[in-house]
Amino acid sequence: MSDILLELKDVTAGYARDIDVLTQINLRVHRGEIAGLIGLNGAGKSTLIKTICGFLTPKEGSVLFEGRNMSGIKPHQLIDHGICCIPQESSLFPFLNVEENLLLPIQSRRSLKNNSWQERYEEVLELFPILKEKRYQAAGELSGGQQKQLEFAKVWIIQPRLCLVDEPSIGLSPKIAEEVFVWLEKFTQDGMGVLLIDHNVRRVVEMSQNVYVLSLGKITASGNQEMFKNDLHGQVKEWLGLNY
Ligand SMILES: Nc1ncnc2c1ncn2[C@@H]1O[C@H](COP(=O)(O)OP(=O)(O)OP(=O)(O)O)[C@@H](O)[C@H]1O
Ligand SMILES: [Mg+2]
Repeated sequence: MSDILLELKDVTAGYARDIDVLTQINLRVHRGEIAGLIGLNGAGKSTLIKTICGFLTPKEGSVLFEGRNMSGIKPHQLIDHGICCIPQESSLFPFLNVEENLLLPIQSRRSLKNNSWQERYEEVLELFPILKEKRYQAAGELSGGQQKQLEFAKVWIIQPRLCLVDEPSIGLSPKIAEEVFVWLEKFTQDGMGVLLIDHNVRRVVEMSQNVYVLSLGKITASGNQEMFKNDLHGQVKEWLGLNY
């Protein structure tokens, strides 16, 4: 079995017929690895995630998951294929309580019922004590950091093979942001592949086996961690086209 989980081949995509936001994107995420995607505001990072998730259809090229073309997949079917997304905005139901948010995917998906979800649920409550304490409170009443914990807890229960994570540390205190990065590393220990987007470029490079730089909708540099580690500041400035 190939260890390539996700592969984008020459993907061009956008919101309007005559304007391409992403041009000829090539990118891979392997089993058990974090692939980091960095780029300035508006570069097209979230658009890339929306394209993988089926909110946008590629105008050209293909998105393959475990070798199969994902074209035409509906966002709500992703979970059945073993893919979860933690979007830049919240994916929680604010009026449902913590426990309902955690168990909804399991209860609504026969495909998830068979695995050891009960065990995982207990694990999640141990791993995130604040969620245990607030399990009957509405998700919308939690703080930003607690809501982020809930998003990660949900993924932990579902155990997808691929997780797409868009700006997980945004708006979080440095302590909680660091916890988020540690959870992501924990995810990959079981073989999950992660596509990570975050503005904390140094941390992304530190924890990613492969890194991609997206600039104005094009991948302008990519390589393994070593390539990016030495002169990160200078390289990133150059790749992002910054002249200061
Ligand atoms: N729903 C939309 N309809 C039309 N254009 C959009 C839409 N969402 C984003 N865009 C445009 O696509 C481009 C890329 O936006 P995107 O949100 O993918 O960038 P990003 O790299 O995720 O930025 P950020 O770091 O700010 O999250 C921008 O020019 C943006 O204006
Ligand atoms: Mg974005």
